[in-house]
Amino acid sequence: MVRILVCYFSGSGNTQKMAEFIAEGVGAEGVDVDVRNVENVNCDELLDFDGIILGSPTYYGTCAAPIKELIDESVKHHGKLDGKVGGAFSSSANIAGGNETTIMNILQMLMIHGMIVKGHPNGSHYGPVAVGAPDKNAEDECIAYGRSMAKLTKKITGE
Ligand SMILES: Cc1cc2nc3c(=O)[nH]c(=O)nc-3n(C[C@H](O)[C@H](O)[C@H](O)COP(=O)(O)O)c2cc1C
Repeated sequence: MVRILVCYFSGSGNTQKMAEFIAEGVGAEGVDVDVRNVENVNCDELLDFDGIILGSPTYYGTCAAPIKELIDESVKHHGKLDGKVGGAFSSSANIAGGNETTIMNILQMLMIHGMIVKGHPNGSHYGPVAVGAPDKNAEDECIAYGRSMAKLTKKITGE
């Protein structure tokens, strides 16, 4: 069965709420989904998933240290994530506070792993963003993103 990990760091709960909405969208496509705080993700487990979606609050326009630490640790599996689907999302305090640069920062790291990332023609082009806690629009974007990533992962894996 296709498996997707939604892994997040969240200091005050906003990114966690986004993660839960994304997982809801993934699950709606019949894909097995784990939504986990990065503290509960062992780097070795990344190998077990067909898709990995990472979420972080925007910290100075980039991802928070626990997400970077997970990626840095994943160098021990360099080459083994090649061809998996990757995605990213972020919550920031400000509307142009660096949430898109945070997403791009994460996507760049996933691409260096050889992962497949997808843009979106409508709404959040690089991945879902929220200003503070997700409002209804951000909630809908997160659910739609989860569905879209699940569909792509099924297509890539041929399931
Ligand atoms: C260390 C730190 C750096 C931050 N840097 C930014 C920033 O560059 N731009 C911004 O808009 N918000 C920034 N914020 C605010 C958070 O991105 C924002 O409160 C976010 O919603 C927190 O998400 P969380 O509830 O998942 O922790 C920063 C917060 C902290 C603690």
